[in-house]
Amino acid sequence: VASWAILGGTGAQGLGLALRLAAAGEPVIVGSRVAERARDAAEKIRARVPGADAMGLDNASASRAAERIVLSFPAEGLVDALGALAPELAGKLVVDVMVPLAFHRGRADVTAVAGAPSVGELVQERLPRSRVVCAFKNVPAELLQDLEQPARGDVLVCGEDASARAEVAAAVARLPELRAVDAGALANARYVEGITALLVNLNRQHRARTSISIVGLPA
Ligand SMILES: NC(=O)c1ccc[n+]([C@@H]2O[C@H](COP(=O)([O-])OP(=O)(O)OC[C@H]3O[C@@H](n4cnc5c(N)ncnc54)[C@H](OP(=O)(O)O)[C@@H]3O)[C@@H](O)[C@H]2O)c1
Repeated sequence: VASWAILGGTGAQGLGLALRLAAAGEPVIVGSRVAERARDAAEKIRARVPGADAMGLDNASASRAAERIVLSFPAEGLVDALGALAPELAGKLVVDVMVPLAFHRGRADVTAVAGAPSVGELVQERLPRSRVVCAFKNVPAELLQDLEQPARGDVLVCGEDASARAEVAAAVARLPELRAVDAGALANARYVEGITALLVNLNRQHRARTSISIVGLPA
């Protein structure tokens, strides 16, 4: 069983995460609605990370082949994508990196998620038999993809299952310079998702590439 499947891993965020995991020596499977696109993305990973164990499959096959699944779809249309995959994801650790952003006049806003107060809560509601953990929502794709630079910053990790959060935190610890911060209950996904809108707006205002760091935690 491969370590990680990254569904929607042909997009900027999923590919960035797949690159970082592969660079840390984790086997990765890229998932796509179209297997050919997934195979192309896996080839990109092998080209950028010599010796990477990376392959590409359609999303359902990728879900079956791994125990730890990252969901990296656009937030719109998510419910349809999850419906088809729910049986494959039952019993698995599911890492949700998604943020429901919309842009109005150059400003990012969090949009309402139909049926739940956050994407994280929607995913857990739709996948009741999966252990859902939100993570990497505040880490920009550009930073993840730029393997020449360490991806500095904190990764807020929230979800209902403490052992699942710990499993994700252990994976974060394998990525140089990123630190996992246990953010407790899944309901905190509401605020974690909001922070991403702020970071996007800061990036525009300051022509920057921001991420977050939490101070004041016990060592
Ligand atoms: N970009 C960032 O910096 C960043 C940072 C933090 C969080 N995020 C979050 O991470 C998620 C992915 O971001 P992204 O920029 O990589 O997004 P994206 O490129 O728009 O989408 C990712 C992949 O999802 C698949 N997809 C598109 N529409 C779909 C649908 N209706 N149903 C199922 N699959 C669909 C596509 O893959 P195939 O066509 O190959 O199936 C696409 O390559 C988003 O929710 C975003 O909010 C992004």
